[in-house]
Amino acid sequence: MSVSSYTQRLLDAFAEQPFLLAPMAGVTDAPYRLMCRDHGARLAYSEMVSVAGLAHASEKTWDLVLPDEREPQICVQLFGSKPEQFSAAVRAVEERVGDKLTLIDLNMACPARKVTTKGEGSALMRTPDLAAEIVSACVSEAHVPVTVKMRVGYGAHDRNAPEFAARMAEAGASAVAVHGRTAGQLYQGTADWSIIDEVAAAVSVPVIGSGDVFSADDAVRMLTTTSASAVFCARGTYGNPWIFEDALEALRTGSPARVRDYRDRLGALRRHVELLARAGAHMARARTFAAWYLKGIPDAAAWRRRSVGCSTAEDFMRLVDDLDAAAADWYLDRGKVVARSIEA
Ligand SMILES: Cc1cc2nc3c(=O)[nH]c(=O)nc-3n(C[C@H](O)[C@H](O)[C@H](O)COP(=O)(O)O)c2cc1C
Repeated sequence: MSVSSYTQRLLDAFAEQPFLLAPMAGVTDAPYRLMCRDHGARLAYSEMVSVAGLAHASEKTWDLVLPDEREPQICVQLFGSKPEQFSAAVRAVEERVGDKLTLIDLNMACPARKVTTKGEGSALMRTPDLAAEIVSACVSEAHVPVTVKMRVGYGAHDRNAPEFAARMAEAGASAVAVHGRTAGQLYQGTADWSIIDEVAAAVSVPVIGSGDVFSADDAVRMLTTTSASAVFCARGTYGNPWIFEDALEALRTGSPARVRDYRDRLGALRRHVELLARAGAHMARARTFAAWYLKGIPDAAAWRRRSVGCSTAEDFMRLVDDLDAAAADWYLDRGKVVARSIEA
């Protein structure tokens, strides 16, 4: 299939649901993706997976790649620096994932030192020849669209995303994603959305925008005020898996997105714990997620302390039962959750 029909396939998917679950290492495992899919996410990305690791991968590594049986699709993100390892990884991922594989994304955005010191992730923005070679190697092997995720540039003052994106598109990328920060900025400062327009002006493939999408309204704003064809929801999904359906509804109706309250969040925490337990996941992950769902509730710090002490699915279920019991005493006062007994 030619690159342009791959691009069309992506545009069709974006037309249906332009708000995508971004790749997040340590976060977007199968239970997390299922939570988001339950609330409107269609395209959802795996955590980044090392192509070097996949060469002699354990089943644990493959768990990062393989979709749950209830997932209809997956976008797999790879990172590394050796074209031949990327080719082998593409072959292996296509073979193991099969028809559920929607696209393979190449990580040229990760700023972590342990990644960039090996010339991987965002460091590839400094070696465009190698980056283009990697894209070509993947495109010639793949039977799905290959896309590239990048930053504004590598160093604090670099801004080569437009030229870099053009080079990656020329090498065969069917879409590019840009996070509006340089690698040097890590996650600090404000994301610069103007880079999305600059990249879009430099390429003819669709651009996925990323950076500071903290709410459904932010997601709609990025889509409607920039040249992005789709928007990555990353930290904005923390404790808010509804961001996908809420943003889509706000986009369609033109009204501000719906506000979720503690009742929605307690229900989501229960469901998330169930999904993690069912996946046999390490329950330590639930401590992080619990803190996100519990934000803004009465006595939040004490509840968070209790969740840190939980280590089994049963511990978490007891916590959720106790939260539900406590919530019988809560009510909303101008958007703030208040406990009657504390107030009295
Ligand atoms: C915990 C965490 C892990 C991330 N892991 C990845 C990753 O594996 N691959 C990637 O391309 N980006 C990764 N990102 C970056 C996000 O996909 C996104 O581009 C970034 O968070 C900016 O969006 P936001 O400001 O709306 O969160 C990660 C971000 C966070 C917060």
